[in-house]
Amino acid sequence: MSKQYNWYRLTDADDPVVAEQAIAVYEVHGKKICFSRFGGQLYAFAYKCPHAGGLLAEGFIDGQGNVVCPLHRYRFSLRNGYNSSGEGFYLKTYPIEMREDGIFVGMEKSWLSW
Ligand code: FES
Repeated sequence: MSKQYNWYRLTDADDPVVAEQAIAVYEVHGKKICFSRFGGQLYAFAYKCPHAGGLLAEGFIDGQGNVVCPLHRYRFSLRNGYNSSGEGFYLKTYPIEMREDGIFVGMEKSWLSW
């Protein structure tokens, strides 16, 4: 079954949200999410590292489009959460849609919200 999302408007469509390779934190539907831009593309991913909860906003984005955790330097692809440094973890990422009226973030529906 394909994933179902609830979409939440983050901001105006022409709002840049975050500069290239910077990391910004916004609250979306009561949940803190990190945003970054790489190659002009906006990405959204979990606030905390899946390894031991490092705050990813205190890390940085490397030249290949990975977020690097500040605690143990594990790397995760902004595109899909793949743990590109090879420790076998998986970073949650969130889909983004650029619509005419704004930037929207998709959060998976849980059975509770159906
Ligand atoms: S907490 Fe992020 S790499 Fe360990």
